[in-house]
Amino acid sequence: MGGKAQISLGWIEWIKGWLLVLYDILFQRILACHLKNPLQLPPLNGLTCIVTGATSGIGLEMAKHLAEGGAHVVMACRKTRAANDLIQKWQKECSGMAGLLDIEVMELDLLSLESVGKFASAWNARQGPLHVLINNAGIFSIGAPQTFSKDGFEEHMQVNHLAPALLTLLLLPSLIRGSPSRVVNVNSNMHHLGFVDSNDLNVTSGKRKYSSVIGYSGSKLAQIMFSSVLQKKLPSEAGLNVMCVSPGVVMTNVARDLPRIIQTGYHLIPYFLFSAQEGARSTLFAATDPDIPEYCSVLRADDWPVCPYFSGDCRPTNASAEAHNVDSAMKVWDKTLELIGLPSNAVERLMEGEVVPCKYCHQNMTEVDY
Ligand SMILES: NC(=O)c1ccc[n+]([C@@H]2O[C@H](COP(=O)([O-])OP(=O)(O)OC[C@H]3O[C@@H](n4cnc5c(N)ncnc54)[C@H](OP(=O)(O)O)[C@@H]3O)[C@@H](O)[C@H]2O)c1
Repeated sequence: MGGKAQISLGWIEWIKGWLLVLYDILFQRILACHLKNPLQLPPLNGLTCIVTGATSGIGLEMAKHLAEGGAHVVMACRKTRAANDLIQKWQKECSGMAGLLDIEVMELDLLSLESVGKFASAWNARQGPLHVLINNAGIFSIGAPQTFSKDGFEEHMQVNHLAPALLTLLLLPSLIRGSPSRVVNVNSNMHHLGFVDSNDLNVTSGKRKYSSVIGYSGSKLAQIMFSSVLQKKLPSEAGLNVMCVSPGVVMTNVARDLPRIIQTGYHLIPYFLFSAQEGARSTLFAATDPDIPEYCSVLRADDWPVCPYFSGDCRPTNASAEAHNVDSAMKVWDKTLELIGLPSNAVERLMEGEVVPCKYCHQNMTEVDY
């Protein structure tokens, strides 16, 4: 295809992406009217769930709801004091009810790959099973200039994709020990606006002009591509399903970087926006619904190139056309593993019982037994 045709195709996808976001804002409440709020969960006793970014917004609601449902919940947060204050408050609220919540805090700062390695070492030292990992923490620094983490990566790419990718891979042994288990990535329909150049994940080459929308949407698309390859690499006997979900358009702190005038507009349309509790439903559904493993195994059997993707109304939906680009997804996989300091065949080696070297870990990745 010629350059001009490609550019106009890019514009068409971009416009389609924005129309989809607008459609979400206008119709999500109608499309989700079959859902209860809060979502009713199956009994979760005996399950261990890690939720990243559980101090505000969607993550806070999910952590509380999962703990109330009987799960052992780990709030993986950078503001550990705020998380502990929340736990105290929730324990007081439920003291008259069935008993104390089984919930704890562990420190995790996704802006530091070393912190991810530390978190994983501390978790893996327990040698326990993990049943659900929810990669929820994310940033959208709307309108802000381009910034880089101390690891040298564009911050949206690091917090929304690279660090959760490292976390997921380092927790694989624990997830497989807990199988049937799930990884749920809180993604966004804004990935439809995204494009990922695996040779320019930092958007510094000058080929594209950086904006926060480009940074955010690219990081969310990279997460879907990475999740799809991971899902393909995991043998079905491992019993681990990897999914992405859109929470809908949700009233949370995610809009804190909007200029004040737009923020006012954002808060003036509460009818259209989901509350954080409503926005938590699709992730909770993917994390706990008993029919999910069967749905995932059908997709595997079909050799569908994209991992399962759920919309804010908990229905399976289609990720963007670019997310189906297998060639780009493989390139994103290889580049991601290179940047997070793991060999590109880390999953295969781990599954074969080998010890895998890891740049950001305190020990090497240990073998899995499944
Ligand atoms: N709200 C929406 O309309 C919407 C739509 C689509 C997708 N999403 C996605 O939903 C997820 C949750 O966002 P939200 O809307 O609930 O926003 P939020 O209220 O801003 O919550 C984001 C959470 O991520 C944590 N976080 C940010 N940077 C972190 C870091 N470096 N290390 C560890 N934790 C970090 C925050 O912790 P701190 O308190 O420490 O900052 C906070 O707990 C994100 O992945 C977002 O992209 C949201």
